Amino acid sequence: MGHGRRVMGQGGERMRFSATMVAAGFLLLAACKPEPQPMKTIRHSERVFGTTPEGVEVHLYTLQNLHGMRATITNYGGIVTSLLVPDRTGRPGDIVLGFDSLEGYLRGSPYFGAIVGRYANRIAGARFTLDGHAYRLAANDHGNTLHGGVRGFDKVVWDAIPFADSTRSGLRLHHVSAAGEEGYPGRLDVTVTYEVTDANELRITYHATTDKATVLNLSHHGYFNLAGRGSRSIIGHELLLAAERYTPVDAALIPTGELARVDGTAFDFRTATPIGDRIDADDRQLRYGKGYDHNFVVLGTPGTLRLAARVRDPESGRTMEVLTTEPGIQFYSGNFLDGTLVGKGGATYGHRAGLCLETQHFPDSPHHVNFPTSVLRPGQAFRSETIYRFAAQ
Ligand code: BGC
Repeated sequence: MGHGRRVMGQGGERMRFSATMVAAGFLLLAACKPEPQPMKTIRHSERVFGTTPEGVEVHLYTLQNLHGMRATITNYGGIVTSLLVPDRTGRPGDIVLGFDSLEGYLRGSPYFGAIVGRYANRIAGARFTLDGHAYRLAANDHGNTLHGGVRGFDKVVWDAIPFADSTRSGLRLHHVSAAGEEGYPGRLDVTVTYEVTDANELRITYHATTDKATVLNLSHHGYFNLAGRGSRSIIGHELLLAAERYTPVDAALIPTGELARVDGTAFDFRTATPIGDRIDADDRQLRYGKGYDHNFVVLGTPGTLRLAARVRDPESGRTMEVLTTEPGIQFYSGNFLDGTLVGKGGATYGHRAGLCLETQHFPDSPHHVNFPTSVLRPGQAFRSETIYRFAAQ
Protein backbone atom coordinates (compact mmCIF):
# COMPACT_ATOMS: atom_id res chain seq x y z
CA MET A 1 0.00 0.00 0.00
CA GLY A 2 1.28 3.35 -0.98
CA HIS A 3 5.11 3.42 -1.18
CA GLY A 4 5.02 3.93 -4.93
CA ARG A 5 2.60 6.87 -4.76
CA ARG A 6 3.92 10.17 -5.99
CA VAL A 7 2.62 13.48 -4.79
CA MET A 8 3.45 16.03 -7.40
CA GLY A 9 2.85 19.71 -7.71
CA GLN A 10 3.08 20.34 -3.98
CA GLY A 11 6.67 21.29 -3.51
CA GLY A 12 8.48 18.47 -5.28
CA GLU A 13 9.51 20.74 -8.14
CA ARG A 14 11.70 23.80 -7.91
CA MET A 15 11.26 26.92 -10.02
CA ARG A 16 13.93 29.41 -10.89
CA PHE A 17 12.97 33.04 -11.14
CA SER A 18 14.95 35.49 -13.23
CA ALA A 19 14.88 39.23 -12.61
CA THR A 20 12.95 39.70 -15.89
CA MET A 21 10.35 37.18 -14.85
CA VAL A 22 9.91 38.95 -11.51
CA ALA A 23 9.61 42.37 -13.19
CA ALA A 24 7.14 40.97 -15.75
CA GLY A 25 5.18 39.44 -12.90
CA PHE A 26 4.90 42.77 -11.08
CA LEU A 27 3.69 44.52 -14.30
CA LEU A 28 1.16 41.79 -14.84
CA LEU A 29 0.00 42.03 -11.24
CA ALA A 30 -0.37 45.79 -11.53
CA ALA A 31 -2.53 45.35 -14.65
CA CYS A 32 -4.83 42.75 -13.11
CA LYS A 33 -7.47 43.02 -10.44
CA PRO A 34 -6.43 41.15 -7.29
CA GLU A 35 -7.68 37.60 -7.44
CA PRO A 36 -8.86 35.84 -4.28
CA GLN A 37 -5.85 33.96 -2.89
CA PRO A 38 -6.06 30.17 -3.06
CA MET A 39 -5.99 28.54 0.36
CA LYS A 40 -2.38 28.03 1.38
CA THR A 41 -1.42 24.39 1.38
CA ILE A 42 1.47 23.16 3.43
CA ARG A 43 3.72 21.33 1.03
CA HIS A 44 5.11 17.85 1.06
CA SER A 45 7.25 15.93 -1.39
CA GLU A 46 8.63 12.44 -1.90
CA ARG A 47 11.79 10.88 -3.38
CA VAL A 48 13.62 7.56 -3.42
CA PHE A 49 16.01 7.02 -0.49
CA GLY A 50 17.41 3.61 -1.43
CA THR A 51 16.74 -0.12 -1.61
CA THR A 52 16.88 -2.56 1.28
CA PRO A 53 18.93 -5.81 0.99
CA GLU A 54 15.56 -7.55 0.40
CA GLY A 55 15.08 -5.39 -2.72
CA VAL A 56 12.40 -3.07 -1.34
CA GLU A 57 12.61 0.55 -2.47
CA VAL A 58 12.15 2.99 0.38
CA HIS A 59 11.31 6.66 0.15
CA LEU A 60 11.97 9.97 1.84
CA TYR A 61 9.02 12.22 2.52
CA THR A 62 9.44 15.88 3.31
CA LEU A 63 6.83 17.59 5.47
CA GLN A 64 7.01 21.31 6.08
CA ASN A 65 5.11 24.28 7.35
CA LEU A 66 5.09 27.94 6.32
CA HIS A 67 7.49 29.02 9.11
CA GLY A 68 10.65 27.25 7.97
CA MET A 69 10.17 23.98 9.85
CA ARG A 70 10.81 20.88 7.73
CA ALA A 71 10.90 17.18 8.64
CA THR A 72 12.27 14.51 6.32
CA ILE A 73 11.09 11.01 7.13
CA THR A 74 11.78 7.63 5.54
CA ASN A 75 9.35 4.74 5.62
CA TYR A 76 12.32 2.52 6.55
CA GLY A 77 11.85 2.34 10.33
CA GLY A 78 9.72 5.49 10.25
CA ILE A 79 13.01 7.35 10.75
CA VAL A 80 13.04 11.15 10.92
CA THR A 81 16.30 11.67 9.00
CA SER A 82 16.38 15.45 9.35
CA LEU A 83 14.44 18.13 11.18
CA LEU A 84 15.08 21.72 10.19
CA VAL A 85 14.10 24.32 12.78
CA PRO A 86 15.01 28.04 12.66
CA ASP A 87 17.23 29.52 15.39
CA ARG A 88 16.56 32.89 17.04
CA THR A 89 17.92 34.71 13.95
CA GLY A 90 15.62 32.67 11.69
CA ARG A 91 18.45 30.53 10.31
CA PRO A 92 17.34 26.90 9.93
CA GLY A 93 19.50 24.14 11.42
CA ASP A 94 19.16 20.36 11.37
CA ILE A 95 18.56 19.43 14.99
CA VAL A 96 18.52 15.61 14.79
CA LEU A 97 21.32 13.08 14.42
CA GLY A 98 21.27 10.61 11.54
CA PHE A 99 22.88 9.49 8.30
CA ASP A 100 22.91 10.86 4.74
CA SER A 101 22.10 7.52 3.13
CA LEU A 102 19.96 4.46 3.76
CA GLU A 103 23.20 2.42 3.96
CA GLY A 104 24.16 4.35 7.07
CA TYR A 105 21.00 3.17 8.82
CA LEU A 106 21.36 -0.39 7.47
CA ARG A 107 24.98 -0.66 8.65
CA GLY A 108 23.94 -0.09 12.25
CA SER A 109 22.29 2.79 13.98
CA PRO A 110 21.58 3.36 17.68
CA TYR A 111 17.92 3.85 16.70
CA PHE A 112 18.57 7.37 15.32
CA GLY A 113 15.16 9.01 14.71
CA ALA A 114 13.28 5.71 14.50
CA ILE A 115 9.96 4.39 15.68
CA VAL A 116 10.70 1.80 18.32
CA GLY A 117 8.44 -1.18 19.10
CA ARG A 118 6.83 -3.59 19.68
CA TYR A 119 8.26 -2.79 23.10
CA ALA A 120 10.36 0.37 23.51
CA ASN A 121 13.24 -0.01 25.99
CA ARG A 122 13.98 -3.22 27.87
CA ILE A 123 12.14 -6.34 29.04
CA ALA A 124 14.28 -8.26 31.53
CA GLY A 125 15.44 -11.72 30.57
CA ALA A 126 13.70 -11.34 27.17
CA ARG A 127 10.64 -13.10 28.52
CA PHE A 128 7.28 -12.39 30.08
CA THR A 129 4.13 -14.23 31.10
CA LEU A 130 0.66 -13.12 30.10
CA ASP A 131 -2.64 -14.91 30.82
CA GLY A 132 -0.65 -17.95 31.97
CA HIS A 133 1.41 -18.23 28.77
CA ALA A 134 5.19 -17.76 28.94
CA TYR A 135 6.65 -15.92 25.95
CA ARG A 136 10.33 -15.89 24.96
CA LEU A 137 11.48 -12.79 23.11
CA ALA A 138 14.46 -12.10 20.88
CA ALA A 139 17.33 -11.13 23.20
CA ASN A 140 19.56 -8.36 21.81
CA ASP A 141 20.92 -6.61 24.91
CA HIS A 142 22.91 -8.75 27.37
CA GLY A 143 20.17 -11.37 27.65
CA ASN A 144 17.40 -8.78 27.74
CA THR A 145 15.28 -7.47 24.87
CA LEU A 146 15.71 -3.84 23.82
CA HIS A 147 13.49 -1.76 21.51
CA GLY A 148 11.57 -4.68 20.03
CA GLY A 149 14.38 -7.20 19.57
CA VAL A 150 16.67 -8.09 16.69
CA ARG A 151 14.36 -6.69 14.03
CA GLY A 152 12.15 -4.16 15.73
CA PHE A 153 9.86 -1.56 14.16
CA ASP A 154 12.94 0.60 13.47
CA LYS A 155 14.06 -1.93 10.84
CA VAL A 156 10.84 -2.68 8.96
CA VAL A 157 9.57 -0.97 5.83
CA TRP A 158 6.32 0.77 6.67
CA ASP A 159 3.55 1.41 4.14
CA ALA A 160 3.36 5.17 3.73
CA ILE A 161 0.68 7.63 2.70
CA PRO A 162 1.54 11.35 2.69
CA PHE A 163 -1.19 13.96 3.11
CA ALA A 164 -1.49 17.74 3.45
CA ASP A 165 -4.10 20.41 4.13
CA SER A 166 -4.16 24.07 5.12
CA THR A 167 -2.69 23.59 8.60
CA ARG A 168 -0.50 20.51 8.49
CA SER A 169 1.53 18.21 6.33
CA GLY A 170 1.67 14.57 7.32
CA LEU A 171 2.75 11.02 6.71
CA ARG A 172 0.71 8.01 7.77
CA LEU A 173 2.80 4.88 8.32
CA HIS A 174 1.25 1.46 8.64
CA HIS A 175 2.75 -1.89 9.65
CA VAL A 176 1.33 -5.29 10.49
CA SER A 177 3.54 -7.14 12.94
CA ALA A 178 2.89 -10.87 12.50
CA ALA A 179 1.98 -13.06 15.46
CA GLY A 180 5.20 -14.46 16.90
CA GLU A 181 7.43 -11.71 15.40
CA GLU A 182 10.44 -11.34 17.74
CA GLY A 183 8.50 -13.66 20.09
CA TYR A 184 5.53 -11.34 20.73
CA PRO A 185 2.03 -12.84 20.65
CA GLY A 186 -0.81 -11.56 18.47
CA ARG A 187 -0.99 -9.99 15.04
CA LEU A 188 -0.52 -6.31 15.78
CA ASP A 189 -1.83 -3.69 13.36
CA VAL A 190 0.01 -0.38 13.94
CA THR A 191 -0.42 3.07 12.44
CA VAL A 192 1.95 5.90 13.29
CA THR A 193 1.20 9.35 11.90
CA TYR A 194 3.74 12.15 11.72
CA GLU A 195 2.53 15.71 11.16
CA VAL A 196 4.32 19.03 10.88
CA THR A 197 1.82 21.65 11.99
CA ASP A 198 1.46 25.39 11.59
CA ALA A 199 2.31 25.75 15.30
CA ASN A 200 5.92 24.48 14.69
CA GLU A 201 5.15 21.05 16.03
CA LEU A 202 6.18 17.57 15.04
CA ARG A 203 3.11 15.66 16.16
CA ILE A 204 3.18 11.86 16.40
CA THR A 205 0.09 9.77 16.94
CA TYR A 206 0.08 6.04 17.47
CA HIS A 207 -2.79 3.59 17.01
CA ALA A 208 -2.68 -0.18 17.40
CA THR A 209 -4.97 -3.18 17.65
CA THR A 210 -4.23 -6.87 18.20
CA ASP A 211 -5.98 -10.21 17.71
CA LYS A 212 -4.41 -11.75 20.86
CA ALA A 213 -3.33 -10.20 24.15
CA THR A 214 0.18 -8.75 23.88
CA VAL A 215 2.39 -6.15 25.50
CA LEU A 216 3.04 -2.92 23.65
CA ASN A 217 5.20 0.16 24.10
CA LEU A 218 5.69 2.51 21.15
CA SER A 219 8.05 5.46 21.03
CA HIS A 220 10.06 7.78 18.83
CA HIS A 221 13.83 7.62 19.25
CA GLY A 222 15.01 11.00 17.93
CA TYR A 223 18.45 12.19 19.06
CA PHE A 224 18.17 15.97 19.40
CA ASN A 225 20.92 18.54 19.44
CA LEU A 226 19.24 21.92 19.37
CA ALA A 227 22.51 23.59 18.33
CA GLY A 228 22.32 21.60 15.04
CA ARG A 229 24.11 18.57 13.58
CA GLY A 230 25.65 17.18 16.73
CA SER A 231 28.51 19.64 16.34
CA ARG A 232 28.98 19.74 20.09
CA SER A 233 27.69 17.88 23.11
CA ILE A 234 24.27 18.54 24.61
CA ILE A 235 25.56 19.05 28.16
CA GLY A 236 25.00 22.81 27.89
CA HIS A 237 21.32 22.33 27.00
CA GLU A 238 18.96 23.30 29.84
CA LEU A 239 16.38 20.67 30.67
CA LEU A 240 13.13 20.73 32.56
CA LEU A 241 11.32 17.47 33.30
CA ALA A 242 7.79 17.55 34.71
CA ALA A 243 8.47 14.65 37.05
CA GLU A 244 8.60 14.17 40.81
CA ARG A 245 9.60 10.53 40.48
CA TYR A 246 11.71 8.31 38.27
CA THR A 247 12.31 4.58 38.00
CA PRO A 248 15.81 3.64 39.27
CA VAL A 249 17.55 0.79 37.48
CA ASP A 250 20.03 -2.02 38.15
CA ALA A 251 23.41 -2.35 36.46
CA ALA A 252 21.73 -3.79 33.32
CA LEU A 253 19.42 -0.73 33.15
CA ILE A 254 16.37 -2.75 34.19
CA PRO A 255 14.02 -0.89 36.57
CA THR A 256 14.09 -2.16 40.14
CA GLY A 257 10.35 -1.44 40.44
CA GLU A 258 10.82 1.49 42.79
CA LEU A 259 9.23 4.86 41.99
CA ALA A 260 11.85 7.05 43.63
CA ARG A 261 11.43 10.74 44.46
CA VAL A 262 13.77 13.10 42.60
CA ASP A 263 14.10 15.54 45.54
CA GLY A 264 17.69 16.31 46.43
CA THR A 265 19.12 14.14 43.63
CA ALA A 266 20.73 14.70 40.23
CA PHE A 267 17.37 13.61 38.80
CA ASP A 268 15.49 16.71 39.93
CA PHE A 269 14.83 18.68 36.74
CA ARG A 270 11.64 20.34 38.02
CA THR A 271 13.34 23.65 37.37
CA ALA A 272 15.33 24.01 34.17
CA THR A 273 18.96 22.96 34.79
CA PRO A 274 21.93 22.52 32.43
CA ILE A 275 22.29 18.79 31.74
CA GLY A 276 26.03 18.92 32.47
CA ASP A 277 25.62 20.39 35.96
CA ARG A 278 25.17 17.06 37.75
CA ILE A 279 25.77 14.41 35.07
CA ASP A 280 29.12 13.38 36.58
CA ALA A 281 27.87 13.46 40.18
CA ASP A 282 28.89 10.61 42.46
CA ASP A 283 25.60 8.72 42.09
CA ARG A 284 25.16 4.99 41.51
CA GLN A 285 22.25 5.55 39.12
CA LEU A 286 24.38 7.85 36.96
CA ARG A 287 27.21 5.32 37.03
CA TYR A 288 24.85 2.57 35.82
CA GLY A 289 23.62 4.74 32.96
CA LYS A 290 27.05 6.33 32.26
CA GLY A 291 24.98 9.47 32.56
CA TYR A 292 21.21 9.88 32.32
CA ASP A 293 19.37 6.87 30.88
CA HIS A 294 16.25 6.76 33.01
CA ASN A 295 12.48 6.75 32.81
CA PHE A 296 10.70 9.65 34.51
CA VAL A 297 7.10 9.48 35.70
CA VAL A 298 5.34 12.35 33.92
CA LEU A 299 3.18 14.44 36.25
CA GLY A 300 -0.55 14.52 35.52
CA THR A 301 -2.95 11.93 34.22
CA PRO A 302 -1.76 9.45 31.60
CA GLY A 303 -4.06 9.63 28.59
CA THR A 304 -4.22 13.43 28.72
CA LEU A 305 -1.80 15.53 26.69
CA ARG A 306 0.46 17.42 29.09
CA LEU A 307 3.96 18.87 29.26
CA ALA A 308 6.63 16.26 29.97
CA ALA A 309 9.85 18.11 29.13
CA ARG A 310 11.30 21.38 27.89
CA VAL A 311 14.86 21.73 26.53
CA ARG A 312 16.67 24.91 25.55
CA ASP A 313 19.96 25.54 23.83
CA PRO A 314 21.10 28.94 25.13
CA GLU A 315 23.36 29.62 22.13
CA SER A 316 20.90 29.13 19.26
CA GLY A 317 17.91 30.10 21.40
CA ARG A 318 16.02 27.03 20.17
CA THR A 319 13.61 25.41 22.61
CA MET A 320 11.75 22.14 22.34
CA GLU A 321 8.74 21.17 24.43
CA VAL A 322 7.62 17.58 24.66
CA LEU A 323 3.93 16.96 25.37
CA THR A 324 2.53 13.47 25.69
CA THR A 325 -0.36 11.29 26.71
CA GLU A 326 2.12 8.58 27.81
CA PRO A 327 2.83 7.86 31.50
CA GLY A 328 6.63 8.10 31.18
CA ILE A 329 9.54 9.70 29.37
CA GLN A 330 13.03 8.22 28.95
CA PHE A 331 15.74 10.83 29.22
CA TYR A 332 18.84 9.36 27.56
CA SER A 333 21.81 11.71 27.35
CA GLY A 334 23.56 9.94 24.44
CA ASN A 335 26.08 8.28 26.73
CA PHE A 336 26.87 5.41 24.38
CA LEU A 337 27.82 7.68 21.49
CA ASP A 338 31.61 7.49 21.30
CA GLY A 339 32.69 9.23 18.11
CA THR A 340 32.79 6.07 15.99
CA LEU A 341 29.63 6.92 14.04
CA VAL A 342 30.03 9.35 11.18
CA GLY A 343 26.73 10.98 10.45
CA LYS A 344 25.19 13.57 8.15
CA GLY A 345 27.63 15.79 6.29
CA GLY A 346 30.58 13.86 7.79
CA ALA A 347 29.73 14.93 11.37
CA THR A 348 31.36 12.76 14.01
CA TYR A 349 28.89 11.96 16.74
CA GLY A 350 30.92 12.12 19.91
CA HIS A 351 29.99 11.42 23.51
CA ARG A 352 26.60 13.01 24.30
CA ALA A 353 26.24 14.57 20.86
CA GLY A 354 22.48 14.13 21.09
CA LEU A 355 19.77 13.57 23.69
CA CYS A 356 16.64 11.44 23.52
CA LEU A 357 13.33 12.21 25.17
CA GLU A 358 11.33 9.06 24.46
CA THR A 359 7.72 9.15 25.60
CA GLN A 360 6.67 5.69 26.67
CA HIS A 361 5.20 3.20 29.09
CA PHE A 362 7.76 2.33 31.74
CA PRO A 363 10.58 -0.05 30.77
CA ASP A 364 10.04 -3.68 31.82
CA SER A 365 6.38 -3.03 32.73
CA PRO A 366 5.41 -6.69 32.10
CA HIS A 367 7.39 -7.55 35.28
CA HIS A 368 6.07 -4.78 37.54
CA VAL A 369 2.42 -4.79 38.60
CA ASN A 370 2.83 -1.32 40.14
CA PHE A 371 3.66 0.18 36.70
CA PRO A 372 0.88 1.30 34.31
CA THR A 373 -0.11 -1.72 32.27
CA SER A 374 1.34 -2.18 28.79
CA VAL A 375 -1.08 -5.01 27.94
CA LEU A 376 -3.25 -4.62 24.85
CA ARG A 377 -6.13 -7.02 24.33
CA PRO A 378 -8.32 -7.86 21.34
CA GLY A 379 -11.19 -5.39 21.06
CA GLN A 380 -9.13 -2.58 22.62
CA ALA A 381 -7.45 0.19 20.64
CA PHE A 382 -4.13 1.60 21.78
CA ARG A 383 -3.96 5.37 21.17
CA SER A 384 -1.18 7.69 22.11
CA GLU A 385 0.03 11.14 21.13
CA THR A 386 3.32 13.00 21.52
CA ILE A 387 4.16 16.50 20.34
CA TYR A 388 7.65 17.97 19.92
CA ARG A 389 7.02 21.74 19.78
CA PHE A 390 9.71 24.19 18.72
CA ALA A 391 10.38 27.89 19.24
CA ALA A 392 13.43 30.17 19.25
CA GLN A 393 14.07 33.27 21.29
C1 BGC B 1 18.05 3.36 25.99
C2 BGC B 1 19.55 3.25 26.08
C3 BGC B 1 20.09 2.71 24.81
C4 BGC B 1 19.67 3.64 23.70
C5 BGC B 1 20.15 3.21 22.33
C6 BGC B 1 17.72 4.25 24.85
O1 BGC B 1 16.35 4.32 24.69
O2 BGC B 1 17.47 3.83 27.16
O3 BGC B 1 19.91 2.45 27.17
O4 BGC B 1 21.48 2.59 24.84
O5 BGC B 1 18.28 3.71 23.67
O6 BGC B 1 19.92 1.89 22.13
